[in-house]
Amino acid sequence: MAAPSFDTIVNLAGKRGFVFRASEIYGGLRSAYDYGPLGVALLRNVKSAWWRSMVQLRDDVVGLDSAIIQSPRVWEASGHVGQFNDPLVECVSCHARHRFDRLESPDRCPTCGIRDSFTDARDFNLMFRTHMGPVASDSNLVYLRPETAQGIFTNFENVRRVSRLKVPFGIAQLGKSFRNEITPGQFVFRTREFEQMEMEFFTHPDQADDWFRYWVEERHQWYLDLGMNPGNIRLRRHEEDELAHYAVATYDVDYRFPWGWDELEGIANRTDFDLRRHSEVSGKDLRYFDQAAGERFFPYVIEPAAGATRAAFAFLIDAYHEDTVRDAPRTVLRLDARLAPIKVAVLPLSKKPDLVEVTGRVADALCPRWDIEVDITQAIGRRYRRQDEIGTPYCVTVDFDTLDDEAVTVRDRDTMAQDRVGIGQLRAYLGERLGDG
Ligand code: GAP
Repeated sequence: MAAPSFDTIVNLAGKRGFVFRASEIYGGLRSAYDYGPLGVALLRNVKSAWWRSMVQLRDDVVGLDSAIIQSPRVWEASGHVGQFNDPLVECVSCHARHRFDRLESPDRCPTCGIRDSFTDARDFNLMFRTHMGPVASDSNLVYLRPETAQGIFTNFENVRRVSRLKVPFGIAQLGKSFRNEITPGQFVFRTREFEQMEMEFFTHPDQADDWFRYWVEERHQWYLDLGMNPGNIRLRRHEEDELAHYAVATYDVDYRFPWGWDELEGIANRTDFDLRRHSEVSGKDLRYFDQAAGERFFPYVIEPAAGATRAAFAFLIDAYHEDTVRDAPRTVLRLDARLAPIKVAVLPLSKKPDLVEVTGRVADALCPRWDIEVDITQAIGRRYRRQDEIGTPYCVTVDFDTLDDEAVTVRDRDTMAQDRVGIGQLRAYLGERLGDG
């Protein structure tokens, strides 16, 4: 099947309630989005899959949840106050503002089409500013974090001490970040408020290259393991002139979005830039002491930095398929079961009270373990289609035979094969196929 168009995905996301425009009843707020019932479940599942692979299944990575608002000195030390800028130009004709380095043509305004109408580019700092306390003044200026990474660096020594981990080890964090992007866009791909999943892996400088290669492979494989089509994902090494000021090497994991290849995640070798800078600016020695070797050094950092909201969007696009069932077209999201917002739909064949009663019993048995949905309205075929369209891996149908044989029909989203399963065996049957969700 050809890749879905951008509009197809945006329409599905709106129609099924994955994503709503923020402040919709007030006309919306440009490039701000709210996640509806299915969207929040998909996003949560992406974040859980990341946490499971990065923290839960590893003995060398621990978690952290640092504050969104930190001391402004953190952002001075990290370079964000001085260098987290994009080049901004304004069209003197229509007053549209653009990011200069993303313009298709450097001398033609994409909004009004007028040529040679741009002001000189000026640096625009992407951090959102606010004030701490009741009076707005320069002395209480603070920033909303533009990345989760810095809270990890400032806690390096705290976490090392309490976890008693030895280098090499990592600290993972996920959560909201904020960037006052000049040109947000492409739906939830680039927004001003978004969620990141970042892990900082601290290593001896001599081992940094090996760990860099390791994490590039691991992170590429994570998307493939969650079912992403290998033809839609690639690794791309940054050219020298693309590297961030702190990095000596970076790979991007790119996804083939409807508009072309674009970044899902970056894996960077940040050297000892961060711990060295925070030591210099804070005056606290953040070097690591290796007792066995009798050596004190600033660890190098390998950083896989992914966007959670961006990854959820990519998984949604990748899962989208259209096929034909008994001459009727169907839309199906072939989401990996771990990512599917609803794992099991429980559907009585009719609204008859005795079927609805059994449906309730089945639902009660399943819902402590998985996200389920009960749907009792409309013809069964339409209900199947709806569940296919939101990616539900299994539909359990309670029919009239159920009243005699205490069994239900389980339909597989992808093969559409149907199995008759006793209600008493249903949890085990689904457990074999879904795991713990
Ligand atoms: N600590 C390094 C760092 O933040 P980044 O490449 O700027 O690196 C990491 O961001 C990831 O965060 C990106 O690969 C992308 O997935 C996500 N991201 C960055 N800006 C975003 C935005 N405005 N909207 C949505 N996701 C964004």
